[in-house]
Amino acid sequence: MPQIGGNKERIGGCATGCHRNGGYFSGISALEGQPMEKATETGRHDLRSSAWFRDQRDFWWNDDFIALLAERWRLDEAHSLADIGCGLGHWARLLFPFLGPDARLTGVDREVTWLARAREVFLDAYPAAVAAGRVEFDQGDVNSLALPADTFDVVTCQTLLMHLDKPERGLAEMFRIAKSGGLVVCVEPSNLFNMMSFDSCTSEQSTEDLVRNFEFWLRFQRGRIALGKGDISIGERLPGMFAEIGSTDINVYLRDKAFPVYPPYSGPEQEATLEPIKAWESSDTGPWNYAQLARYFLAGEGTAPMLESQLAAMRAEGERQFNAVSEKRYSCGGGAVVYIVSGRKP
Ligand SMILES: C[S@@+](CC[C@H](N)C(=O)[O-])C[C@H]1O[C@@H](n2cnc3c(N)ncnc32)[C@H](O)[C@@H]1O
Repeated sequence: MPQIGGNKERIGGCATGCHRNGGYFSGISALEGQPMEKATETGRHDLRSSAWFRDQRDFWWNDDFIALLAERWRLDEAHSLADIGCGLGHWARLLFPFLGPDARLTGVDREVTWLARAREVFLDAYPAAVAAGRVEFDQGDVNSLALPADTFDVVTCQTLLMHLDKPERGLAEMFRIAKSGGLVVCVEPSNLFNMMSFDSCTSEQSTEDLVRNFEFWLRFQRGRIALGKGDISIGERLPGMFAEIGSTDINVYLRDKAFPVYPPYSGPEQEATLEPIKAWESSDTGPWNYAQLARYFLAGEGTAPMLESQLAAMRAEGERQFNAVSEKRYSCGGGAVVYIVSGRKP
């Protein structure tokens, strides 16, 4: 069960696979990828959101599922891969060993801080490839990549398009730098759905509360889009976007990884899921904060009275869930809808 929050108001979404209707444990995946770009009062990008890159992200994929995807995509025939919005390189690090011999990796991100750490991660994981100059990380914006057209066998991103005001433009750039016949792969969630998943405490909530929760997160999502901060459910739109761009050989898969949480909450994955909750609580960090939550909800035409009553309900629900964990009666399946959409450049 997931975390959530970590801001002053202790409201928020969890960061991993767990979602809960409102409250602290709600949609981790809802925040899967939510603001690395955490808006601050000053409008700068808040790199304290490094909380997002904790261990939990290391558990996002089953190894054998990655191997299956690599086989479906014939990654062994690829000799170059660009990971756009690469962050610390979690996604590229998984795909890299499946590429053909002597393959080159280019990671691109807007934030130099992530790039420096991604270089360290790759040096540790693939020292020979780094020493051979086959791995590079460059600062760049997906809206206008400083990379030549028709260059890469594979161009990919994981939880990037969900942050863009104009995701079609970012996707078009990704297709531009792919070779003809090259593969483009996007991994993006459907987080409104993920926010609504149930757990062992859901039956204690009234139907009215659950319906209000849905309205709250729907307005949050719509407000976020209206403010140009991206669509947290963009996974649903990806197949249409690939078709619109003229991609061939479009395939749509779902990530098969779940993040179940159940007593006694032991093991590295459950610990990685629960740990950020404690950290966010004590450090005033986390996926999102009260000000941001309010901004998106109100921009989604939510009213101030509903905001206040919903936040109060979410706090109370969060406390109930925390108590359920303490009493070892909290559990959830921890599934999340995350689409993997791939297609070829004609
Ligand atoms: C949620 S993180 C995902 C990081 C990485 N792909 C992963 O899955 O771990 C989103 C990343 O996109 C980057 N980003 C956001 N907007 C971007 C843009 N316009 N151009 C390039 N990178 C961007 C952020 O800096 C951040 O590293």
